[in-house]
Amino acid sequence: MNIILLGPPGAGKGTQARKLVDERRMIQLSTGDMLREAKDSGTEMGNRVAEVMARGELVTDEIVIGLIEEKLEKDANCGFIFDGFPRTLAQADALDALLAKHGKSLHAVIEMRVNDDALVARITARSTCGVCGEVYNDQTKPWPEGGKCANCGSTDQKRRADDNEDSLRTRLMGYYKQTSPLIGYYYAKGKLRPIDGMGTPDEVRHELEIQLG
Ligand code: AP5
Repeated sequence: MNIILLGPPGAGKGTQARKLVDERRMIQLSTGDMLREAKDSGTEMGNRVAEVMARGELVTDEIVIGLIEEKLEKDANCGFIFDGFPRTLAQADALDALLAKHGKSLHAVIEMRVNDDALVARITARSTCGVCGEVYNDQTKPWPEGGKCANCGSTDQKRRADDNEDSLRTRLMGYYKQTSPLIGYYYAKGKLRPIDGMGTPDEVRHELEIQLG
């Protein structure tokens, strides 16, 4: 099964993808995570990517499509959760071609609907574990009091450079302008499954399960 989690920044794509990986043994392909790895590599490409991400703008289609292509070649026999990809029509076309090349198809595109006020509240309160990637939230899932990640015991609590109100505004504008046209694209293909992303993570998970069947 191959699915796309589509939604604005803070919709809960990463949170739900991690649950699916644990429960369904699928592979999560997060272009955001891949780009953050490239950024940390200190290469010239990594430095260019870091500047674009900090501003909250989209990295070029060519770079992200290349990253996804590499992963699909490597784990061609697995089921994938595409988290944060595609984000433009050009990326959606490229994904169609890549899946076809590997004899794969798309099961569903889960559109996670969350209002802007909730997105801002979620993003500005987010932190993650720098070792295992567990996602926390100061309001709803605080970093444990003992200072250690509940999942792996690390003390490396991280906040993303683009989780500030300025970058978030640019990211949201980018979502509505460049990414939301994908809703119509996948609706026309009969793949779109909208869910209410405003509930608790467990409630959203339940809705997701219903849509995946
Ligand atoms: P990326 O890393 O993909 O970020 P994003 O799409 O902005 O999404 P987020 O990771 O911010 O949010 P999420 O939906 O995963 O929410 P989460 O589960 O963490 O991209 C970053 C940047 O990389 C982009 O701006 C761009 O520059 C570049 N990029 C990436 N992909 C690209 C592409 N394809 N093309 C071009 N450029 C690309 O949850 C957020 C918070 O809310 C957490 O604290 C969590 O605990 C909490 N939470 C989650 N669910 C709930 C819930 N149901 N109720 C209450 N709180 C919740």
